[in-house]
Amino acid sequence: MIKSRLCDLLGIKYPIMQAGMGPFSNNNLCVAAANAGALGLLSTSGLFNKNDQPWIYNSFCDTGEANRDDDMATVLESVLKRTHRLVKDKGGVFGPNVMVSAELKEYSKIMIETAIKAREENPEMKDTLKVMYTSAGDPMGWEEMIKGAGFTWVHIVPSVRAAMRAKKAGVDVIVASGHEGGFHTHWEPLHSMVLFPAVVDAVSDEKTLVIGGGGIGDGKTLTAALALGCDGVLMGTRFLATQESDFPPLWKQSVVDATDRGTLIARGYVGPARWLRNARSEEHAVNTLKKSPGVYLGTPDSYMTMEDTSLIDFENESIKAVYAGDKEKALMAGGEIAQRINDMPTVEDLIQKIVKETEETLVNLPKKFLG
Ligand SMILES: Cc1cc2nc3c(=O)[nH]c(=O)nc-3n(C[C@H](O)[C@H](O)[C@H](O)COP(=O)(O)O)c2cc1C
Repeated sequence: MIKSRLCDLLGIKYPIMQAGMGPFSNNNLCVAAANAGALGLLSTSGLFNKNDQPWIYNSFCDTGEANRDDDMATVLESVLKRTHRLVKDKGGVFGPNVMVSAELKEYSKIMIETAIKAREENPEMKDTLKVMYTSAGDPMGWEEMIKGAGFTWVHIVPSVRAAMRAKKAGVDVIVASGHEGGFHTHWEPLHSMVLFPAVVDAVSDEKTLVIGGGGIGDGKTLTAALALGCDGVLMGTRFLATQESDFPPLWKQSVVDATDRGTLIARGYVGPARWLRNARSEEHAVNTLKKSPGVYLGTPDSYMTMEDTSLIDFENESIKAVYAGDKEKALMAGGEIAQRINDMPTVEDLIQKIVKETEETLVNLPKKFLG
């Protein structure tokens, strides 16, 4: 059976993390992944969308059996407690993915405090809600709060420089996220093949683990990540197209239907993002080039200060269309691995297939290449 330091550290069966894919709900996907032996991650950024994108917020509350009228902390608390209730009997392990970008700091704090409080009020949750996963910002300054409360701290980075900062900040598990990955991505393209070993060489040691994300979806790619020095993998797009995934049916099917050269980069809410290729995303890419070329050149512009909001309006309208099942207008994020995804299995079947294929690949490689 494949196993790594990640399994020992978190008490999970397989060295696989299911990505938190905000702002969309993956409340039920997280339960399924945790119960199947992977680390389940909850996205939380849908909590910000109550007023401007209620279809996202409502889906987050409904799939997590939370009350739409409650405040942010109460909704999150309900979702955390529900997840605990649904994974505890199978020994599932999970955590929330909390964005820590500077402008969201106040909310990040509320979310982390909510998770700490949930564990304090119900110490049994310390066996399931073990991880605090942070993303989209500077990890410096959060150590005392996160590790002081006893969480294993995971943080995602796009570069060696950011990985070194994460290590300095006290992060336990650093996820290196390659440019192949779905949705928000780097300003400067750096792909998994180069990034994973570079981050491993820079920060991996007896205390710091490195996980590879971006382009992983089967046993071959998991094996490759292990060969590049990673202690496990993070998968988003592959998990999106599963039976239990909370994503709208049109989105899930579009991942399955994606073919060769099936994604492109255009503007996302907060920078460059990888979208599944269709007429709508191609139109978005053309508009991005005209109205926000910095997305391709590495010069940020803030959606909060942009005078012309048509790009953002287009994005919002197109994501609303996904929820309405409107294929013509739908804009859907997804990673390059979509072109190699051709089915929509249950999470349990998917993980078992990946594990079996990884084991076979690991056994067969020496036979094939070592005389
Ligand atoms: C639809 C979608 C939404 C995502 N949203 C987030 C997010 O809110 N926060 C985050 O840290 N990563 C987000 N990601 C990136 C994933 O966490 C992960 O890094 C990525 O999916 C890995 O690459 P893969 O898609 O090739 O598996 C998202 C990915 C997808 C596909």
